[in-house]
Amino acid sequence: KTSLEDTLLAAIRTIPDYPKPGILFRDITTLLGNARAFRRAVDELVHPYAGTKIDKIAGIEARGFILGGAIAHQLSAGFIPIRKKGKLPHDTVRVAYSLEYGVDEMEMHKDAVKEGEKVILVDDLIATGGTAEGATRLLRQMGADIVAACFVIDLPDLGGRAKLEALGVEVRTLIAFSGH
Ligand code: PRP
Ligand code: MG
Repeated sequence: KTSLEDTLLAAIRTIPDYPKPGILFRDITTLLGNARAFRRAVDELVHPYAGTKIDKIAGIEARGFILGGAIAHQLSAGFIPIRKKGKLPHDTVRVAYSLEYGVDEMEMHKDAVKEGEKVILVDDLIATGGTAEGATRLLRQMGADIVAACFVIDLPDLGGRAKLEALGVEVRTLIAFSGH
């Protein structure tokens, strides 16, 4: 293991049977509360894009806001919130996305991104990829050029990375948990 993996493994808390029996919940609040681990995660996520022109970071509610804000600051980019429906006050574009059970909807302000702007999508974790796929559709609908999608945690067994890559999105993740 690399020391990055060691740092992240030590900083991410795993909670068995949350929110349901049989689920191993990967809790990043402990990572966020660990100054060294939080900085390391942000630094590693942005590293390939340092020095390239990124216009905006799009963070997915809720945990993608925390990481995305830090990443936007680091890359001197703007920040776009992608929110659960009904939370944004101005004109929005909306998309339905699939969850483990059923569907939900997310929104982005129509004027949050301009045609051709270079955007990095950020969330804490990718599982089935339904959430990130929905966000990708919103951003592309408004003409964004998605440079990459960045996540701290990948659950590769659930296929999200493959789903995003099939849409032509470069995916960057820092640590994978298999057999979640
Ligand atoms: C979790 C996680 C990702 C999403 C990944 O969010 O933070 O956003 O699930 O799952 P997927 O790849 O299968 O779509 P959740 O829906 O629990 O909402 P929250 O971040 O607001 O807590
Ligand atoms: Mg989430």
